[in-house]
Amino acid sequence: MSEVEKRHVVTLEINGVRRNAEVEPRKLLVHLIREDFGLTGTHVGCDTSQCGACTVELDGQAIKSCTVLAVMADGASITTIEGVSPVASRLDAVQTAFHEHHALQCGFCTPGMVMSVRQLLRDHPDANEDDIRHGIAGNICRCTGYHNIVRAVESLVAKD
Ligand code: FES
Ligand code: FES
Repeated sequence: MSEVEKRHVVTLEINGVRRNAEVEPRKLLVHLIREDFGLTGTHVGCDTSQCGACTVELDGQAIKSCTVLAVMADGASITTIEGVSPVASRLDAVQTAFHEHHALQCGFCTPGMVMSVRQLLRDHPDANEDDIRHGIAGNICRCTGYHNIVRAVESLVAKD
């Protein structure tokens, strides 16, 4: 069997559940999440690592999952958009703020935005508008524009 054909078993915790999958070495984490684990809230919006739609948390840090090989996540703890709310049927605080401030239209970018905003608020709990715009600079929204997204995040800062 050639190097390319070799498969590796990846074991990780995803949204609090231990899972494993057999993957090719070249498989990206985003494809493991979507194809093997069926968590399709994590989106693929580009092939240049620019859009941020694939953002998840890897060991508590927001990362673009299209920039990480699945094998590199072996042993890690991953949180996707499906796992952000402590109650599965409810929205988390960031999702609620987006809903209340009309911070989405088609919603394609929203899961990645939410993951990046969670990181932003951990890093800058008192974020101002510049911090917010900088914090979501790696996430592209093609339809809402950024005004209402910034207002949504500001509402979370104001509550703290
Ligand atoms: S799909 Fe990962 S940055 Fe676009
Ligand atoms: S809500 Fe449509 S791309 Fe952001």
